[in-house]
Amino acid sequence: MDIQKVMVIGAGQMGSGIAQVCAMAGFSVVLQDLKDEFLDRGMGVINKNLQRQVDKERMTAAEKEEIIARIQTTTDIQAAKDVDIVIEAAVENMEVKSNIFRQLDEIAPAHAILATNTSSLPITEIAAATKRPEKVIGMHFMNPVPVMKLVEIIRGLATADEVYQAIEDMTKKLNKVPVEVNDFPGFVSNRVLMPMINEAIYTVYEGVATPEAVDEVMKLGMNHPMGPLTLADFIGLDTCLYIMEVLHEGFGDDKYRPCPLLRKYVKAGWLGRKSGRGFYVYE
Ligand code: NAI
Repeated sequence: MDIQKVMVIGAGQMGSGIAQVCAMAGFSVVLQDLKDEFLDRGMGVINKNLQRQVDKERMTAAEKEEIIARIQTTTDIQAAKDVDIVIEAAVENMEVKSNIFRQLDEIAPAHAILATNTSSLPITEIAAATKRPEKVIGMHFMNPVPVMKLVEIIRGLATADEVYQAIEDMTKKLNKVPVEVNDFPGFVSNRVLMPMINEAIYTVYEGVATPEAVDEVMKLGMNHPMGPLTLADFIGLDTCLYIMEVLHEGFGDDKYRPCPLLRKYVKAGWLGRKSGRGFYVYE
């Protein structure tokens, strides 16, 4: 399986980062989103990230321009017609993702791999929206994509071995480290991380401590580089809530019940860093 052209769906925090690292590794990239303004915002982030590399003399201005020139943008999903792989990074919602995969299955060439960057949704269920479940796989990048080394690769029930191998090879080409896991709610990363974040939110909800105090305890006491509430704001509180709901529904255990304070913040539009306010306020 020779991967040369990559389509990334969704130009948000994750999609823009994935497009950037793919272009940096020499792949030709087409970045798709619903509106031009979302694409502009995504390209703006990529441009800023690369400029920082130029300023630190880790890359020349010419190299930066070459990388940017490898990324085309479009609002048309038909762009999937000549790509070798699609990496979907739209919102964490099963209906949205199933819809996208149904369309991609119709449009993308028969050999194309359809990967999803979902944080928690079942790969097997996303694959069932297509007639090529053997070519559907989870490729779970961490945030911020250009910095974080891990890619959790999730096999769906029907994922073919050669598809797994192609994704593992591509991950290494992106200068990242693949870790293979099976398809269970939250995989490994978010099954372990999200209940901790949710519990941190409960401690604020119950008045045990302020967000600053909770984060300080986990940073200084447990040697976490970032406190759980700072991290939740960084991930996006809407995404955190979606993931907790997937865990709660998937395992049916009360220990995964999303904290009411998390629901309240999301309803208020306090989504964290991306909306300017979450547990903290951002300029
Ligand atoms: P985001 O809210 O920053 O970006 C999502 C983008 O998808 C938006 O630009 C939106 O316009 C676009 N979009 C929505 N529906 C679409 C459609 N039908 N077609 C094309 N584009 C569409 O969200 P973020 O944080 O980038 O998350 C994206 C995915 O990555 C989610 O599945 C999330 O669970 C996953 N993820 C998120 C991480 C995080 O830390 N935020 C980490 C790892 C995975």
